[in-house]
Amino acid sequence: MPHKSQFQRDRRESNPAFSSRKLKFGTFQTNLDSGCVMSDLDGRIDITWPNTVALAKLSDEMEFEALVPVARWHGFGGQTNAQGPGFECYTWAAGISGATQKAGIVSTSHITLNHPVMAAKQSAVIDHISNGRYTLNIVCGWNVPEMEMFNMPMLGHQERYDCADEWLQIVRRLWTEDETFDFDGKFYQVKKGYLAPKPVQAPHPAIMNAAGSERGRHFACKNADLAFTVIRNPDPDVNKAHIEAYHTMARDYGREIRVWSLCNIVQGETEKEAREFYDYYVNQKGDFDGAANVITAMNAEVNERNYDPVMMRRMRESFVSSWGGHNIVGTKEQIIDGLKTVSAWGLDGVLLSFPRYEQGLREFRDVTYPLVQQAGLRDFL
Ligand SMILES: Cc1cc2nc3c(=O)[nH]c(=O)nc-3n(C[C@H](O)[C@H](O)[C@H](O)COP(=O)(O)O)c2cc1C
Repeated sequence: MPHKSQFQRDRRESNPAFSSRKLKFGTFQTNLDSGCVMSDLDGRIDITWPNTVALAKLSDEMEFEALVPVARWHGFGGQTNAQGPGFECYTWAAGISGATQKAGIVSTSHITLNHPVMAAKQSAVIDHISNGRYTLNIVCGWNVPEMEMFNMPMLGHQERYDCADEWLQIVRRLWTEDETFDFDGKFYQVKKGYLAPKPVQAPHPAIMNAAGSERGRHFACKNADLAFTVIRNPDPDVNKAHIEAYHTMARDYGREIRVWSLCNIVQGETEKEAREFYDYYVNQKGDFDGAANVITAMNAEVNERNYDPVMMRRMRESFVSSWGGHNIVGTKEQIIDGLKTVSAWGLDGVLLSFPRYEQGLREFRDVTYPLVQQAGLRDFL
């Protein structure tokens, strides 16, 4: 019997990820110990359920559009074992959906570690709990030691995305097709695939992807509603062109895409105070050994990357300070200028992190957010 989906709603109405706000906001990695810093800093995330919920509730008050957890299975050693303790993404997203009213909720899914039938089913539940606020972030994986923990082979770079193509076809069909179907692919075989109830969002929940490679960008532009990119370049023209290239590629696939990135906010009463704080938690307290372990894993041959030594040194500091995010350091006025700048580059949204996440997000709500609104960055266009 085909399932009747009377409860389904147009996802543009229910999911804040499709909001027309000029600059959308989110949080990143609030399901993991340390959050986005690799530093022995007091006040960084100590991962407990009340602590992660507190962050979600603050974000909910400001109607953030995407609370993005990270799929991580063990930490990075060093002095702090950053991201070791943490909550699994789907179950985290389910709980956070129940604890919030308005924010967009994301689960991040490793393709090879989550069977597509399971991913589609779990996603549908979260979409119901959140009443259509759910986005599925698809990641292909890069961290070989994590895959070894599951005794899963790390697929080659090209194959990873071929696998993701099949994975997503199955998930989409389960979300949208009433009749059962068979799927016979290179990576997956499904017999009489069936899923009910369907997700709340019609035609199906939003899809997010965070890839950096050319193959990954094609996957994102062909399939995703939101693409995440890391901004590492100080040149505004390079950043504008980089973001515009996503739109051009998506249009070549006959689609529209929203481009997001990560911003780490280091705010002080004065610029000097903010810079001194950055120096404190990065240069004095930073876990550079842990960060080196991240870069070694990323640079593995199977990931087809070739970072030169200068790049690796820069990346180490970047992972210590902000897990690769773009740092905005200064007074509240300078933070607003920084957010205006990233918006002018063409970004649709940014995930905001703070070294002391809860304290920073609270201060952002009380002190900075009213200025963000005055600047028109949260206007509906
Ligand atoms: C915003 C963002 C979030 C990501 N989240 C995860 C994650 O939760 N787990 C993970 O293993 N990789 C994550 N990644 C890594 C990417 O999904 C991807 O595996 C990596 O960028 C390598 O892909 P590429 O070789 O196509 O560039 C994330 C990347 C970005 C930029």
